[in-house]
Amino acid sequence: MIFEKLNEYEHEQVMFVQDKSVGLRAIIAVHNTVRGPALGGTRFFDYASEEDALFDVLRLSRGMTLKNAAAGLNLGGGKAVIIGDSKKLKSREFLNSYGRFIDSLGGKYYTAEDVNISSQDVAHMNETTKYVVGTPEVSGDPGPFTARGVYMGMKAGAKEKFGTDSLAGKTIAIQGIGSVGGRLCKYLAEEGAKLIISDVNSAALQKVENATVVSPEEIVFSECDIFAPCAMGAVLNVNNVGNLKCKLIAGAANNVLLDIETGDKLTQMGILYLPDYIVNAGGVINCGMEVSAGHYDVNAVNAKVDEIYQTTQKIISLAKEKNIGTHRAADEYAYAQIN
Ligand SMILES: NC(=O)c1ccc[n+]([C@@H]2O[C@H](COP(=O)([O-])OP(=O)(O)OC[C@H]3O[C@@H](n4cnc5c(N)ncnc54)[C@H](O)[C@@H]3O)[C@@H](O)[C@H]2O)c1
Repeated sequence: MIFEKLNEYEHEQVMFVQDKSVGLRAIIAVHNTVRGPALGGTRFFDYASEEDALFDVLRLSRGMTLKNAAAGLNLGGGKAVIIGDSKKLKSREFLNSYGRFIDSLGGKYYTAEDVNISSQDVAHMNETTKYVVGTPEVSGDPGPFTARGVYMGMKAGAKEKFGTDSLAGKTIAIQGIGSVGGRLCKYLAEEGAKLIISDVNSAALQKVENATVVSPEEIVFSECDIFAPCAMGAVLNVNNVGNLKCKLIAGAANNVLLDIETGDKLTQMGILYLPDYIVNAGGVINCGMEVSAGHYDVNAVNAKVDEIYQTTQKIISLAKEKNIGTHRAADEYAYAQIN
């Protein structure tokens, strides 16, 4: 069953690791290294089953190949998942042990932060391997760069949909006012957009001034020009997109569309969807610079993040040229960069 999956997803290498002394069980998936060493974060999650963990790491690592390639980084795609309750298991020894396994890949895979893995955790891995990026001392928190990229992509989308890339006066609904959503609101407010916001954590809403607050149930279907999903994935599916009242979708959340058919339906409805991995690549551009350039330069990072504007335009043009949805055009574009 495993090789069948590897065949389907086209992985180069998948490594199952354990260290009983600290309770570590992890799967490290190197999907593709054609453009360079694989880069993707490590997710620490209490999966319901080993199959779920394997499915997640295979899907996410392939996604990193596409994201890194489309962003023009000389990096391949990989991802790792650690199985278990991070609150109970995580310790310095645990992360040191995990780092040794990353090290054994000899630089074929670089890891970084992800769900339940912070910059500080990455620093602990860094005590036993140099193949990590995103420690607090170097590129650090990716959120602000992701927000900048989403903002640039959104402007490119607005140019297509509204004829101008100015977001002044546009009504924008932001779901999730976390690390990315909070910064995104700042960019949008500075440009004079009208904001509608929602978060399940009411404290997060305090970060944004002069915004209309709606409930988590209402935000997705708010009357707005642009919907920015910045909370979690699979927010949109074929059954609920009919209720959308936006004209453009651009956000940070990964896998916003439940499936490809949802993207097809959005295309039919004339709602412009900016593919998640195109517009949310700012974070990986930030830490990827550590690997691809060999050193970290924040000005170079910002310049590269701003290119998300042009990449978004390319995806929109390709979709028009081929008469397909932008979700399909993004995959075609990304695969063309690795073949
Ligand atoms: N941080 C990055 O650099 C980065 C990069 C790429 C993709 N992403 C993705 O973007 C999304 C946001 O990332 P983040 O770093 O800002 O995460 P975060 O955890 O800092 O913020 C997420 C926010 O969403 C809120 N939220 C959760 N469920 C919600 C719901 N149903 N309705 C409204 N709000 C809800 C949370 O309370 C939290 O404030 C995630 O899906 C993440 O995987 C983040």
